[in-house]
Amino acid sequence: MNDKFVIGIDLGGTNIKGALLDLDGGIIEKREIPTLANAGPEAVAGRIAGMITELEAAVRDTGKSVAGVGIGVPGQPERSTGEVIFAPNLYWRNVPLVKYLRRYTGLPVFLENDANVAALGEQWRGAGQGSANMVMVTIGTGIGGGIVLDGRLYTGSNGAAGELGHAVIEPAGPQCSCGRRGCLETLTSATAMVRMAREALDRGVKTELSKEENLEARDIIMAAQAGDRLALDIVEKAAYYLGIGLGNIINILNPDTIVIGGGVSRAGELLFEPLCRNARANCLDCAGSIVRIVPAQLGNDAGFVGAAKLVLQDNTKKCII
Ligand code: BGC
Repeated sequence: MNDKFVIGIDLGGTNIKGALLDLDGGIIEKREIPTLANAGPEAVAGRIAGMITELEAAVRDTGKSVAGVGIGVPGQPERSTGEVIFAPNLYWRNVPLVKYLRRYTGLPVFLENDANVAALGEQWRGAGQGSANMVMVTIGTGIGGGIVLDGRLYTGSNGAAGELGHAVIEPAGPQCSCGRRGCLETLTSATAMVRMAREALDRGVKTELSKEENLEARDIIMAAQAGDRLALDIVEKAAYYLGIGLGNIINILNPDTIVIGGGVSRAGELLFEPLCRNARANCLDCAGSIVRIVPAQLGNDAGFVGAAKLVLQDNTKKCII
């Protein structure tokens, strides 16, 4: 029996999720805490380190050990220095996250983009198993994209490939946290859906949704499932814009599978029917006819499962166990 374990962390704009896993990707323990990004990068790194320490404690007294930590971050990582170059929804630039975490935990730490690790997770244990050319799209605080080509994660020339959320869809659209306007994530993310609901509430549109401070995308999905007209329109609009983004991705990459993850993907047919319809309307038939557009199978676990996989095999294919 192997006496090694790995830890995977998914750093999100809203929550930090993490787990201790065995080498087959089986989850032994998992945790979730709020990110509290306003407290700044060092405080967030401290919270992640605290979670790693707690997860490690589960094996410490058994003579077994943790081989390393993989972490997915909501932005562009510089893998050689371990810095997060830019994470728009955390307002981070050049944060030496690996250095912080190594200092606090003493463990090897591997850094990757959050949607890229979700793609790895789904390819390893979820809806992307057996797929050669797969695109993962995560719908959360932002919109993330991860690309697997010929079975391998494609990260581009300097690691920034797959930034689907910052594809400009409406040049005069809403302001994005990256500084541009009308990026896909300003039109279709969980944050965008909440913004659309608030704008409609301010206009006095009749709806079951309340003006509460803590309105979330999941409330909009639940209201849509209960037949609320405004909520249904918001989901349809999000699917319209995401369909345009997917249509372009399908034409450019000709994937066999697109996996949709993040909390919003739990909307089921309500989202998938208009999404598939719009994606196929916005791409060429030859590529559109073969692509499967499916929900993530690992749900919210995809990120940390894929992050843990980084420890077993990093991007240079170097196996450290
Ligand atoms: C970031 C991506 C990230 C996505 C989801 C976007 O704003 O640019 O790097 O994958 O949000 O967190």
